[in-house]
Amino acid sequence: MGTYVVTGSASGMGKSVADALREQGHTVIGVDRDGGEVTADLSTASGRRAAITEILDLLDGRIDGAVLAAGLGPARGRERTIIEVNLLGVVEVLEALRPLLAATDKAKVVVFGSNSTTATPFVPPRLIRRLLRGDLDAATAMIRRRGPRLSGPIAYASSKIAVTRWSRMVGTSADWAGAGIRVNVIAPGPVMTPLLRTQLDGANSANVRSFPIPIREYGTSEQLASWVMQMLSPAADFMSGTVITVDGGTEALLRGADW
Ligand code: NAI
Repeated sequence: MGTYVVTGSASGMGKSVADALREQGHTVIGVDRDGGEVTADLSTASGRRAAITEILDLLDGRIDGAVLAAGLGPARGRERTIIEVNLLGVVEVLEALRPLLAATDKAKVVVFGSNSTTATPFVPPRLIRRLLRGDLDAATAMIRRRGPRLSGPIAYASSKIAVTRWSRMVGTSADWAGAGIRVNVIAPGPVMTPLLRTQLDGANSANVRSFPIPIREYGTSEQLASWVMQMLSPAADFMSGTVITVDGGTEALLRGADW
C-alpha cells in the first residue's frame, strides 16, 4: 500500500479522493485549513512553509503520489488569495515533494485544473507569463484593472491556466518525467461541491447558471475521484503532462472546432 498527500482533503473532490485512497488501504496525509492530518493555510508563504515542514516530518523520505485539490473559486476582491492557493499552493508543495516522489518508481501526481482554462475568454498571455515568473504583484494589479465584474473569473481562470501550464512543463521535464514522476492534470467542469454551491448562491449566480453543459447535469465529487484514482494507478504509467477534461461536454461544445 502507498502513501499519498492530498491537499483540500476536508471537502469536495479532495475529500472524495482521500476517502477512495483510504478505502483501498493507502495512507493519506490530508492537508487543509481544518480537518486534515496537516492543518495549514496555503494562501500565505508562511502557511505553505509550515505545511511543507509538517508534511515532510510525517514522511520517511519517499511518497507514492500527491493530489493537489485545495483551491478557491472565483471571488471578487480575493484575486491575490485565489492565485496564492490555486497556483503557489500547488507549485511550492510539489517542489518540496519532488525528491520524495523521485525516490519512488513511477510516482503519480494529479493537479486540479479546471475547464475554465479553455472556457474563459480574454485571459491575456502576458498575465500567465507574469504568474509563471512569480510576479504576483504585477499579475494581481493587471487582473484588478479588468474591473470588479471580471476580476474574480479572470483571477480564477488565470491561476488554473498557469498551474496547468506549469504541470505540463514539469510533466515533460528531465527533473520530473526524467526522474520517473508522472504529473497530470484533471480539468473538471461544474461539480456539485461547496465551492460550486457558493458560486450558485453568489453575486455571479446568473453567469454560473448559464454556463453551457451539454449533458445538462453537474458532476459529482465521486465521479471525479474515480478519474483521479485511475490517474494514480498503473494505468497512468504511460501518461505525463496530460490534461483530462471531465466536464459534461462543455469543452467539446466550445472548442470542438479546434481539433
Ligand atoms: P471545495 O471547496 O469543496 O474543496 C476545496 C478545499 O480546499 C476545501 O476543503 C478548502 O478548505 C481547501 N482550501 C481552500 N483554501 C485553502 C487554503 N488557503 N489552505 C488550505 N486549504 C484550502 O472545492 P472543490 O469543488 O472540491 O474543488 C477542488 C478543486 O477542484 C479546486 O482546486 C477547484 O478549483 C477545482 N475545480 C472545482 C470545480 C467545481 O465545479 N467544483 C470545477 C473545476 C475545478
